[in-house]
Amino acid sequence: MKLQVEHVNYAYGPDLPCVLKDISFSVREGEFISLLGPSGCGKSTLLNILAGIRDDYEGTIRIDGNRVTGISSHFAYMPQNDLLLSWRTILDNICLYSEIHHKKKETLPRARQLMEQFGLQGCEGKYPNELSGGMRQRAAFLRTALCEADIYLLDEPFGALDVITRGEMQDWLKDLCRSLHKTILLVTHDTDEAIYLSDRILVFGRTGEGIRDEVAVMETSRDREWLFRQSSLRSQIHGLISAGG
Ligand SMILES: Nc1ncnc2c1ncn2[C@@H]1O[C@H](COP(=O)(O)OP(=O)(O)O)[C@@H](O)[C@H]1O
Ligand SMILES: [Mg+2]
Repeated sequence: MKLQVEHVNYAYGPDLPCVLKDISFSVREGEFISLLGPSGCGKSTLLNILAGIRDDYEGTIRIDGNRVTGISSHFAYMPQNDLLLSWRTILDNICLYSEIHHKKKETLPRARQLMEQFGLQGCEGKYPNELSGGMRQRAAFLRTALCEADIYLLDEPFGALDVITRGEMQDWLKDLCRSLHKTILLVTHDTDEAIYLSDRILVFGRTGEGIRDEVAVMETSRDREWLFRQSSLRSQIHGLISAGG
């Protein structure tokens, strides 16, 4: 499943400045792409457009060559705001999509196993307002991970997590992408997270500037020690982000 984004422009209103300007890139099936850039450069706006929440943009989005508009089942989206449903328990939130598709019963064992793996055991019957920010974020992440989609759009999914949990979830996401051949677009402001996880990193400029450049990360067998040694990649990316004053 190949994703192509072609010449996307977006402004929030006729008199407002362009937030996304001539954004074009393509993503191969099974590829892990990170979108990195300063706050306000339009990363969340772009994911909203891909997820079909905003359709008043210029440009074209294609999957396997076919134009997609509106909400498409090809995408699973984890917005920056977790959007857990306050009236449903955590387990019912995590199983939301399988319930919609009448597959809740089959999904329950995996949902429970993942909840245990990510420190949410005992939270099945709790409601979102009873959980900490990090727990809510893990629950929202699992809800998205359990969608049967081809392309996962993740907007800063690990921002509220402590370093250890964050590392575990990064490893798990890396495995999900490699073993299940899922395609992932991850928005992050963490350069190391982008280097550790991505095949390619798209570096955005300031608001309306578009994509400054992309950086490919070739290594296939990565671990934390490898990441620690990536100082030249790190400074290349930081140079790109701070370029242009
Ligand atoms: N609903 C909105 N109405 C008007 N402007 C918005 C709205 N949402 C975001 N913006 C503006 O669009 C720009 C990009 O926002 P966003 O996509 O959230 O950036 P990022 O996710 O990269 O931090 C920012 O300047 C922000 O202020
Ligand atoms: Mg954002």
